[in-house]
Amino acid sequence: MLHKIIESAKKRLGNRLLILGHHYQREEVIAHADLVGDSFQLSRMAAERSVFSDVSNAGGLEFIIFCGVHFMAETADILANSPANLARRGGRRVEVILPDVLAGCSMADMASYETVSNCWEQLSRVINIDEVIPVTYVNSSAELKSFCGERGGISCTSGNARAVLEWALSRGRRVLFFPDQHLGRNTALKMGISPNEIADWNSAADLELGGNSVEIISRSKILLWDGFCCVHQRFLLGHIDEIRNAIPNVRVIVHPECRQDVVSKADEAGSTAYILKRITESPPGSCWAVGTEGRFVERIAKQNPDKTVVNLAFQPSYCSTMGLITLENLASMFNPIEQGKPLNVIRVDEKIAKNALIALQRMLENG
Ligand code: 13P
Ligand code: SF4
Repeated sequence: MLHKIIESAKKRLGNRLLILGHHYQREEVIAHADLVGDSFQLSRMAAERSVFSDVSNAGGLEFIIFCGVHFMAETADILANSPANLARRGGRRVEVILPDVLAGCSMADMASYETVSNCWEQLSRVINIDEVIPVTYVNSSAELKSFCGERGGISCTSGNARAVLEWALSRGRRVLFFPDQHLGRNTALKMGISPNEIADWNSAADLELGGNSVEIISRSKILLWDGFCCVHQRFLLGHIDEIRNAIPNVRVIVHPECRQDVVSKADEAGSTAYILKRITESPPGSCWAVGTEGRFVERIAKQNPDKTVVNLAFQPSYCSTMGLITLENLASMFNPIEQGKPLNVIRVDEKIAKNALIALQRMLENG
C-alpha cells in the first residue's frame, strides 16, 4: 500500500523531485531512491542535479528527499542552494527534506562549534595557529564546516580523506582533524606519518590542552579529536581471528571508521563506495567478511549471489539513526509536498552556509 502511494506520488511529481538514499538505509526505503550512494557521491549528486539551465524552471528540480542523516541533508542544502546554483535557477531554492528530523549521527554530535572553538583558542596560546589547517569529516554540523571554511580548512569524506590530508599538509604545518579519531589516525598512518607526530585531543571540557603537554602539541603533525562511530568501533580484532578460523580463504575488508588495530589486521580498508566496488568486481567464488554497517553488508551479499559475503562480526552492527527513515515517514512527506507545504525542510543559515560551502567545494575538488 505505502509502496503504491509513494510510486504514484513520484510519478505525479516527475523531475520536480529527487530521492537520494545512503547505502545504510533500509531496503524498503532504498527501493524508492532515484540515486543511491555514499556521502561523497550523494553530495556530488545534490550539487549536480540541482543545476538546471532553464531559468523558467519548467520541469526543474524543486525538492530533494534525503534518505540519510541530518548532516547529509545539510550538506545537500548548502550545495544545491549555493549562490551560483540559486542564480542559475533565477533565485528559486531546492528544498531538502529529511523524513525524520531526529535522524542524526552520534559521531557528528561528538564535536560542537563551542568545543572545537575552545580547542582552537587553547592551541593558539601555545603554537602558531596560522600553521594549523582544520579538517572536518563530512559527518559534522554545518557550523563546523563553516568553521573550517573560514580558517583555510576543508571537509573530507572517508573516500577522499588521504587526498584532503595531503592538501591540508601542503598548506600548513599541522592539521586539527575532527570528529572521527579513527578515520584521522588510519589515514595519517597510511600516509606514513609517525605515531609520534599524532596527538590525541581529549575533548573533556576541564582538560587543559586536551590532556597534552606543549611539547606533544609542538611536535604533532596531526591533532585528533576523540570522536568515534559506535557502529564501526564495535568491530574487534577477535572478530578477524574468528572469521579467519571459520573461513580460511576469506578476505577481510573494513571501513576506516574502525579501530586502528582492526584496520591494520584487515586485508583492506576503504570507504563505503570502495567496499561495494571491490566486492562487486571480485571474481565469482570470492569470500568476503565485511566490517561496516549491517544493512549495507546484507545488501552487498544480496547483490552478489555468486560470492560469499558475510558480516565480520557474528552480531551485525546497525546504524540506529539511519534506520529512523522508514517507509511510513517517507510516504508521509508526499502529501505536504504536493500541497506546496513541505515538512521537515532542512535549511542551513545563510551565513553558516556561505563558509561551509568553501570547505565543501574544496572537498569536492579533492575527490
Ligand atoms: P560514507 O562516507 O562512506 O558514506 O560513510 C558515511 C558514514 O556515516 C559512515 O559511517
Ligand atoms: Fe554516524 Fe556511525 Fe551512523 Fe555513520 S554509521 S551515520 S558515522 S553513527
